[in-house]
Amino acid sequence: MRLPWHPYPSQSKATRQLLNVFMQRSDVSVHALYDLYPDGNIDVVTEQAALLNVPNIVWLTPVYWYSVPSLMKQWIDQVLARGWAYGEGQAALRGRRCWWVTTTGGDEFAYSPDGMHQRPFIDFIAPIEQTARFCGMDWQPPFIVHSAHQLDADQHAVTSSLLGERIEQLAALKATP
Ligand SMILES: Cc1cc2nc3c(=O)[nH]c(=O)nc-3n(C[C@H](O)[C@H](O)[C@H](O)COP(=O)(O)O)c2cc1C
Repeated sequence: MRLPWHPYPSQSKATRQLLNVFMQRSDVSVHALYDLYPDGNIDVVTEQAALLNVPNIVWLTPVYWYSVPSLMKQWIDQVLARGWAYGEGQAALRGRRCWWVTTTGGDEFAYSPDGMHQRPFIDFIAPIEQTARFCGMDWQPPFIVHSAHQLDADQHAVTSSLLGERIEQLAALKATP
C-alpha cells in the first residue's frame, strides 16, 4: 500500500491518527508526497514504477475544497498519464485496488441539502472514484472520517479500530494484478 497524505503534517491530527494505523503494519509502504516533493516536482517515473509493485493503492488525504489537496491532484494528473494508466490500450494499474481514506471538517449534517455543503459527500467522491475507475482500478468503498477536528480521544480510538478492520479486510483479499 502507498499513502500520499497531508500538506501540513505538523498540523494534522485526524489524518495522522489514520496514518499511525497504517504504519503499524509491516506490509504498508508509506509514501508522503509533501515530504518527497516539497518543491512540487514529482518524479513520475519513480512513482509509476513503485505502483507496479503493489496490489492495493491507498490515497490517504484530508478533504480540501471538496477534493484532494493540490499535490495529490498533481500526482493524479502526472502519474496517471495517458499511454501508461489509460489510452492506446494501456492500463498499467488495471485491477489494482484503489482506496480513498479521508477526513473532512464538515459533519454529516453539513453534507445534506440543508447543511453548509448542501450536497451529500458521495457527490464529492464521484470525481475521485471515476478517476480510479477510468484507469481500470478496482475502487473500494472509501473510509471517511467526518468532523475530523472535533473528535476526542475516544472517538479517534474507535475510528482507528474501524480503520484497522478495513485494512485487514483489504489485505486479506487475493492479489489481482
Ligand atoms: C484548504 C482547506 C480546505 C478545506 N476544505 C474542506 C472541504 O471542502 N470540506 C470539508 O469538510 N472540510 C474542509 N477542510 C477541513 C479539513 O478537511 C479538515 O481540517 C481535515 O480533514 C482535518 O484533518 P487533519 O487533522 O489531518 O488536518 C479544509 C481545510 C483546509 C485547510
